[in-house]
Amino acid sequence: MCGIVGVAGNKNAVNILINGLQKLEYRGYDSAGLYVSDKDGKDCLIKRTGAISNLKKAIGSDVKGTSGIGHTRWATHGGVTVENAHPHYSQDDRFYLVHNGVIENYKELKEQYLSDFTFTSQTDTEVVVQLVDYFATKENMNAKDAFLKTLSLLDKGSSYAFQLMDREEPDTIYVAKDKSPLLIGIGDGCNVVCSDSLAMLNVTHEFLELNDGDFVTVKPDSIDIQDKDGNKVTDRKPFHVDIDASDTDKGTYPYYMLKEIDEQPNVMRKLSSEYLNEDGNPEIEEDLLKSIKQADRLYIVAAGTSYHAGLVGKNLFETMAQIPTEVHVASEFAYNMPLLSKNPFFIFLSQSGETADSREVLVNVSKAGYKSLTITNVAKSTLSRESDYTLLLHAGPEISVASTKAYTAQIAVEAILAKGLGEADQIKAATEFNLRQQLGLVATGMQTIVDEKEKMNQLSQDYFVNASKSFYIGRGIDYFVSLEAALKLKEISYIHAEGFASGELKHGTIALIEDKTPVIGIITQKNTSNLTRSNLEETMARGSKAITIVTKALAKEDDDIIIPDVNSMLTPLLSVIPAQLLAYYTSLNKGLDVDHPRNLAKSVTVQ
Ligand code: F6R
Repeated sequence: MCGIVGVAGNKNAVNILINGLQKLEYRGYDSAGLYVSDKDGKDCLIKRTGAISNLKKAIGSDVKGTSGIGHTRWATHGGVTVENAHPHYSQDDRFYLVHNGVIENYKELKEQYLSDFTFTSQTDTEVVVQLVDYFATKENMNAKDAFLKTLSLLDKGSSYAFQLMDREEPDTIYVAKDKSPLLIGIGDGCNVVCSDSLAMLNVTHEFLELNDGDFVTVKPDSIDIQDKDGNKVTDRKPFHVDIDASDTDKGTYPYYMLKEIDEQPNVMRKLSSEYLNEDGNPEIEEDLLKSIKQADRLYIVAAGTSYHAGLVGKNLFETMAQIPTEVHVASEFAYNMPLLSKNPFFIFLSQSGETADSREVLVNVSKAGYKSLTITNVAKSTLSRESDYTLLLHAGPEISVASTKAYTAQIAVEAILAKGLGEADQIKAATEFNLRQQLGLVATGMQTIVDEKEKMNQLSQDYFVNASKSFYIGRGIDYFVSLEAALKLKEISYIHAEGFASGELKHGTIALIEDKTPVIGIITQKNTSNLTRSNLEETMARGSKAITIVTKALAKEDDDIIIPDVNSMLTPLLSVIPAQLLAYYTSLNKGLDVDHPRNLAKSVTVQ
């Protein structure tokens, strides 16, 4: 949700910023901008609405510098206009600022300090840069003190990752962080700043994490960190990001989403080798297993696709580990916490590890003294750093806004953890479950489905491209996959899609079925297959175009998409793949930008 990049002291600053912004485009693509300057004080500000490519096109040979800051925006306050694009600048053109986050009390600050001032944007951010200028001018402060004074006035509920540049100190970037993610990268002869290390892998693989309240002065040859109490930090150790820069490229794929769908078989194999020992048993930190076993109930907290993966996980934990499990939407749980059990344990599922709604819950439960685990794709992400334990998804960077491989990786890691817990207690459902073999079958099964992707393309053209609404239905875990399948379709094809418990349809929603409305039944569980088939018939009687996604063992002659058989707890790992492909092709066939659906951003760092 908004991406920021900065570089201090590199003659290729413009290229580094543009390349970094392109890698961060998943965080927002309403507008983008950059400010660069060189040692002689020559500088340039350039902003455009729309994708980074618009900004890139607008950059002529006159735009150059050795240091600079850049921003890609997901609009929160103020519409999508050039004026609202970052960087924002002070009225005397001295200070330039980019921001990711939300300033809660910006209206009050405007009234208190800047009531006579005419703002050029409707953003909450502009007030910050004008205030820095206000204190620098009125109170004769240097840039650093004026910025620190401004930060001290921001409401505690605010969130920010800021970079500020002062024309009078062209090679210096002032950086401040509270709640929004931000890293400093250590380059060779230069230093960089970024919301996500992926943005700067062409410059460095060595990064410093920042804590809330940190204030950093970044120069080409130095990085000075002071903590929230103003103390100089001298012991912050860099960490190495072990991702190849080429892993963040699309390669020969037209869209990241298709690449990431195709990567899923390999992610399953990777998880098997990362977490299972030679005997096929999970190798999980003893302390984590011990902590969870002390709990009387698991609370899985997540948002969006990760929440859907959590719903599938409930069955795994209850069956293999025999621990009662609840699954909650983070944004609801944060403000309507249910009555907790005596000894709860919290599991946060988050691809990015940065989702603000989930973090709000984590902060609250940690304060209450409860232990937590984060299952995430991003090492050193905020949720990972702030919870007691982390299990990584090892899915490689997921860049398309629509999540695919993180969903299946989350389910696989939940299965691994559930088996680890169950085995420790000698629970038969866990000890007799050959997870290594099953993950192998899943990987092969996924490959078979992705190899037949043209079939989903055809279905998309025949029944979805011109549809205005559609339904996915199923029972039990098939219902949970229906929720995810519908989310995929609606977020990238803009066709209204609902995932429904198939038995519930007749209690009202069936009124929406019209001639040719596509209704896709997910049928992978023996005990409910006939019921879901009957529910599909009921929609057909009202004119629907029924389509089935069915496991081989339950398939009948007229079924549409047959998926290979795997253990009944793991069928979501396969039944979701045709749905991901159907969403992909429908978006593609409608001529939409698959990776950048409207109104969305990946990594939602505002509540
Ligand atoms: C949908 C999607 C979102 C995310 C949600 C949570 O395709 O990607 O629904 O799942 O915003 O994000 P993470 O998993 O990063 O916490």
